[in-house]
Amino acid sequence: MNRFENKVALVTGSTQGIGAACALRLAADGADIILNGHSPKDERSEKLIQQIEGMGRRAAFIQADVGKVADVTKLINDAVSTFGQLDILVNNAGVEKNHDFWDVTEEDYDYVMDTNLKGVFFGIQAFVKYCMSTNRGGVVINMSSVHEEIIFPHFAAYCTSKGGLKMLTRNLATELAPLNIRVNNVAPGAIATPINKKLEETPKLMENVLKNIPMKRMGKPEDVAALVAFLASDDATYVTGSTYFVDGGLTYHYEEQ
Ligand SMILES: NC(=O)c1ccc[n+]([C@@H]2O[C@H](COP(=O)([O-])OP(=O)(O)OC[C@H]3O[C@@H](n4cnc5c(N)ncnc54)[C@H](O)[C@@H]3O)[C@@H](O)[C@H]2O)c1
Repeated sequence: MNRFENKVALVTGSTQGIGAACALRLAADGADIILNGHSPKDERSEKLIQQIEGMGRRAAFIQADVGKVADVTKLINDAVSTFGQLDILVNNAGVEKNHDFWDVTEEDYDYVMDTNLKGVFFGIQAFVKYCMSTNRGGVVINMSSVHEEIIFPHFAAYCTSKGGLKMLTRNLATELAPLNIRVNNVAPGAIATPINKKLEETPKLMENVLKNIPMKRMGKPEDVAALVAFLASDDATYVTGSTYFVDGGLTYHYEEQ
């Protein structure tokens, strides 16, 4: 499928997990891809670039810490220069910290909030300035979480950041619609990626998680990427300002035990 022919997509935090799956899926559907990670380019990015080029698309890697405003702004500008345009921004990079609320330090809080919310805010701002200066529309997809909606004890900063993304998306959809820029959130449930390594290695934890998932399995990164590709595409031209859950039924699950 070539629904992204002549389109360039930037996926933040795309060296592994959901971001890598999004990059591969958007490339499979025809987009040229800018990969990003906060560490220098490594063999994972090299392999992804080879895979994307093998699909006949262009790919590049840009190192940037999206938690720093100067870096994320430069990332957007460098992404534009790399292939001469930028059409799709997937704000995927995200981190979490597991602490009792009373033990969260300012450093923990800043780490989570800067990566998950502040970087997204200013990354979108740089993208919007580019769109305005070139008179182009654009698509923004923020990787939120079911925890923009449902609680997650001991992950207060994470939930705060994803809750912030929920309102950021609602707000920007209205403000940016006249510029032909669409903004949506994707909210994954429990997806099998390195962020969930401990969960996958701890049977008791896994059993508890699966009790809450009507489909009785974790999701795959590709399940999330398929939704991202839809929202990025012209099939979704009338879709903006909402959150789309990809969670096997987790969020609105209720059963009498
Ligand atoms: N896996 C899940 O179950 C799940 C569920 C809900 C939401 N999410 C969200 O999906 C997104 C991707 O998660 P994942 O499971 O693939 O996690 P992951 O840890 O496998 O990947 C996250 C990626 O982001 C990168 N990253 C982190 N901080 C960065 C920074 N400051 N600058 C640039 N890159 C940075 C990491 O290097 C990594 O490549 C996150 O926003 C996460 O909150 C994941």
